[in-house]
Amino acid sequence: MSFTLRPAAMADMAEIMRLERAGFAEAIQETEEAFAERLSSAPEGCWVLAGEAKRLYGYLCAEFWPLEQGFNSARFARNHAAAEAHVPDGEEVYVSSMVVDPATRGTGWGHRLFRDALVEMFARHPRLRSTILIVNPEWDAARRIYRAEGFAEIGEIEGYFASGSGQRLPAIVMRRN
Ligand SMILES: CC(C)(COP(=O)(O)OP(=O)(O)OC[C@H]1O[C@@H](n2cnc3c(N)ncnc32)[C@H](O)[C@@H]1OP(=O)(O)O)[C@@H](O)C(=O)NCCC(=O)NCCS
Repeated sequence: MSFTLRPAAMADMAEIMRLERAGFAEAIQETEEAFAERLSSAPEGCWVLAGEAKRLYGYLCAEFWPLEQGFNSARFARNHAAAEAHVPDGEEVYVSSMVVDPATRGTGWGHRLFRDALVEMFARHPRLRSTILIVNPEWDAARRIYRAEGFAEIGEIEGYFASGSGQRLPAIVMRRN
């Protein structure tokens, strides 16, 4: 099956929320309000993999940030407002979230979504020159994609993620210049 990468729209919300619930444990799922805020404040960073009849097979959300030396862990706070963080002429993309439909995983679409959405953003916004993200140490598929795309680990944010065992896991910060 083949899907089309395109900018996300408010009309995609029900499908985005279906993917969100399929992608993450309940404790870390983001709300419809958070996605609506991203779509209205940072539309340049919101992308979907669209199939037929309004069905979506993946989404990727990003913001543009000013580029800074090292990183400031406070910037990655969960539920931060895209309206405050996103700078349309920023030089660094922050990829905040990505999900592929479980029925489609393991067939290369996650890698394509990640690679092609970044290619589109960099082509449309020539000021961009860097990409940053955080990842849970247990999210193996995502980590494989980021490594394959040339991202390097530049640090950790202690205790960022809750784990199933009740312990907290760090967020690994990765960047590609
Ligand atoms: C991360 C995610 C988007 C990847 O989508 P996908 O379509 O499965 O990705 P791909 O098919 O392109 O596979 C990417 C790599 O991960 C590997 N992989 C896929 N599923 C895996 C799994 N369950 N465990 C370990 N590796 C896995 C693939 O073999 C591939 O590696 P390779 O290129 O070295 O062979 C998808 O797993 C997902 O939605 N996960 C839940 C949400 C999430 O973790 N999001 C990312 C952080 S925000």
